[in-house]
Amino acid sequence: MRKPMIAGNWKLHKTCSEALELVNELKNGVIDIRDVEIVVAPVYTTLSTVSAAIEGTNITLAAQNCYPEATGAFTGEVSPAMLADVGCRYVIIGHSERRQLLGESDEFINCKAHALAEADMGIILCIGETLEEREADQMLDILRRQVRLGLKGLDEAAMASLVIAYEPVWAIGTGKTATDEQAQEAHAFIRALIKEHYNQEIAAQTRILYGGSVKPGNVDALMTQPDVDGALVGGASLKAADFARIVAFEKQ
Ligand code: 13P
Repeated sequence: MRKPMIAGNWKLHKTCSEALELVNELKNGVIDIRDVEIVVAPVYTTLSTVSAAIEGTNITLAAQNCYPEATGAFTGEVSPAMLADVGCRYVIIGHSERRQLLGESDEFINCKAHALAEADMGIILCIGETLEEREADQMLDILRRQVRLGLKGLDEAAMASLVIAYEPVWAIGTGKTATDEQAQEAHAFIRALIKEHYNQEIAAQTRILYGGSVKPGNVDALMTQPDVDGALVGGASLKAADFARIVAFEKQ
């Protein structure tokens, strides 16, 4: 059984005091939820504050990025161990905003995956096609490449704490959600790829989240799809009430 995960990617939002206000409100809103893994990914500067605020609660901390080295002359970067040190359990890698704005390659993302596995941290690997790629009928090739290169060399132990987030780039921050059928089709394809690279057991245990304009109004239908195991939420995770409602999704 795959435990659903609902993760909030706060992106470049919230000062320390704003983050504290948001997470305190969220804590109360999700206090009774036990059967969903609830994750928040604030900006680096607020991780310690949020970490202290969620201690002993049902909310888990994630970072939005990391650098694939433990220490060294890497100005401006943060290592997996440092993120673990402030209480992060997961790190998001491969987000399309980093792929597009910062030119991150599948190979570099794979280095981060290995560094995270070595530091015993959970990985949330984002993949997804752009609109041009979808319209050119390249979606499956893109997903195949991102899965193959992103997971390259990761052993079965690393896969145990790896989550994939399918985020079609055209659905991020646009208000355009993939239809339930589009999400299911991509998720089933990704699960088949994992089976191809590993085995049936790993494919069955790996959680695949959907991301891209997830809101209180569409989460129930998305979560009803058999291969959708959760959501990676951007905009709607910045409002405690909306995120709490998403966490409390109801399958239809
Ligand atoms: P939105 O929910 O704002 O579309 O963002 C999705 C996302 O990029 C989560 O990582």
